[in-house]
Amino acid sequence: MKGLILSGGKGTRLRPLTFTSAKQLIPLANKPVLFRVIETIRDAGVTDIGVVVGPPTDEEVRAQVGDGSRWGVKITFITQDRPAGLAHAVRISRDFIGDDRFVMFLGDNCIQGGIHKLIRQYADSDYNSQIVLKQVPDPRSYGVAVLNATGGIERLIEKPKDPPSNLALVGVYMFDKHVFEAVDAIKPSWRGELEITDAIQWLVSNGRKVFPYIHTGWWVDTGKREDMLEANSLVLEELVPTVDGVIENSEVDQRVTVEKGAVIRNSIVRGPAIIGENTRIENSYIGPFTSIHNDCVIENAEIDRSIVLENCEIRDIPARIHDSLIGRRSVVNRAAQKPTGYRLMLGDYSQVGLA
Ligand code: DAU
Repeated sequence: MKGLILSGGKGTRLRPLTFTSAKQLIPLANKPVLFRVIETIRDAGVTDIGVVVGPPTDEEVRAQVGDGSRWGVKITFITQDRPAGLAHAVRISRDFIGDDRFVMFLGDNCIQGGIHKLIRQYADSDYNSQIVLKQVPDPRSYGVAVLNATGGIERLIEKPKDPPSNLALVGVYMFDKHVFEAVDAIKPSWRGELEITDAIQWLVSNGRKVFPYIHTGWWVDTGKREDMLEANSLVLEELVPTVDGVIENSEVDQRVTVEKGAVIRNSIVRGPAIIGENTRIENSYIGPFTSIHNDCVIENAEIDRSIVLENCEIRDIPARIHDSLIGRRSVVNRAAQKPTGYRLMLGDYSQVGLA
């Protein structure tokens, strides 16, 4: 069994962060989503893993992931010259996959509880494909499946306006070599992409055995800010806390991870939360579901349910910052000079919510 992770694409819904970084490298509890995906596949016993990358983020992903030895896996990069769709990514991975069966995992998806049961079930079956489904309240932004009377797949449709069921396709798929016939046979969708959902529909229509696997734990597609914050909260809740930094004159509860070299002084930190390496928190309040990454300074500020990336400075803020995603090297402070008012330097596509 091989693994295939899709880490190309554009990440337009997470701009401006994705102007300078791949969306799959945005961290949840200070660890990139993509690293979590690699660990999930590795933990299920699959160690030969292809990673599809594409411009403009391919160099960054290659540099951050390396050869995989730090996870005990072998990584092979596969370059997709343009984001032509998930089925296109499968098409260009044919040489890497060969005749093996494989698990495909979208590099921006995060699921609870791992995939070992799924891998075992597929390995023990004669299914050509197995797709992971989850009941969601509003499946309009996902692929949607309709099951037949015997529990098999009847029909699949990508991002329907009027969903025929509430079963969304989670970004984890099991395939054998027949998927290559399917990705060669289908045509681009209305959005100009070769859709994996159409390829799976082709397998169903051509008599291949495609079966569902219903996922009952949580699942988040981290494509948007709100999803990212939700995923961060869920991952933080499952983190086993450790304290390697220094805590002085502060109230830090047991669900807080304090990484090496971090200093928390005269502050309150309520977990689940993580404070990254060499970050300094002083005279501040950090509330639940917050990840502060490495080398940040937070002084005289209050933050909760937020993700703050590396090297940020946040000082002297009169109101609480919440539900925020703050990119690397951002500076948020209170200006001493008049006139009063907000002074902003925002990247293209930034979003600010002032109350
Ligand atoms: O998250 C689950 C959903 O993922 C499924 O329910 C949908 O059926 C499926 O089409 C997919 O929808 P998205 O619109 O969310 O896919 P997205 O464009 O975000 O791409 C998913 C991952 O694949 C992401 O890590 C980027 C990568 N990718 C995407 C494209 C279009 C590639 O590597 N190459 C590509 O050409």
